[in-house]
Amino acid sequence: MSVHKNLKKVTTHSLFEMKSAGKKISMLTGYDFSMARIIDEAGMDIILVGDSASNVMAGHETTLPITLDQMIYHASSVVRAVKRALVVVDLPFGSYQGNSKEALSSSIRIMKESGGHAVKMEGGHEIIESIQRILTAGIPVMGHLGLTPQSIYKFGTYLVRAKEKDEADRLIEDAIALEKAGCFAIVLEKIPADLATKVAKMLTIPIIGIGAGNGVDGQVLVIHDMLGINNEFSPRFLRKYNNLYEQMMVSFQNYISL
Ligand code: KIV
Repeated sequence: MSVHKNLKKVTTHSLFEMKSAGKKISMLTGYDFSMARIIDEAGMDIILVGDSASNVMAGHETTLPITLDQMIYHASSVVRAVKRALVVVDLPFGSYQGNSKEALSSSIRIMKESGGHAVKMEGGHEIIESIQRILTAGIPVMGHLGLTPQSIYKFGTYLVRAKEKDEADRLIEDAIALEKAGCFAIVLEKIPADLATKVAKMLTIPIIGIGAGNGVDGQVLVIHDMLGINNEFSPRFLRKYNNLYEQMMVSFQNYISL
């Protein structure tokens, strides 16, 4: 059991060094104090306060309803627990798409009010100006391409993206543009493994995959999914490390019956 064997804080720079040294980067979502403390003490490199909180914490069908205030609430709970991991906070839907000024002020609120260390935003060329403006304020930005759940009503399904050459070419161009703009890392969600591997080899910044194969620089999962808390969600890419739904059910039933 490792409790902070290595207390050297993870930074955007150390992630870059990990990629250069061929060391895999670990990343999980976290939304609350108690869980974040365990994730951090386990030695996770990055904790993502994902807007998937909208699904797994609040029970919404999509990530769209969660607000900036709610993201700040989750992020500040996580930050209070963390000693080592880099805490990245999702900019929620509607808090950055308007224009670069809005994107900057939402990012500043996250940094000031939650104490998070970086923001993540979904999109490619259409958000480059916003990324540059956020970076000029000294706020690190993580990109997110492929299946971007905030655009679910545009896609229509949660199926794999960029299977066709046109979309794959566009994704490569977007990834290059995000690196050029100054993103410190990119999440690639649900794209073919060979495409994700190609992007990871092409770019110098870390590429973190979810449902994008093993040829990337690190993996990210939603904590409820990898712990098996949600027994109704079992996509092919998801490796479950526990079956907490069943274990919790048995515990609760034992409590009731004793
Ligand atoms: O919100 C989230 O959990 C995410 C991950 C799926 C990458 O963005």
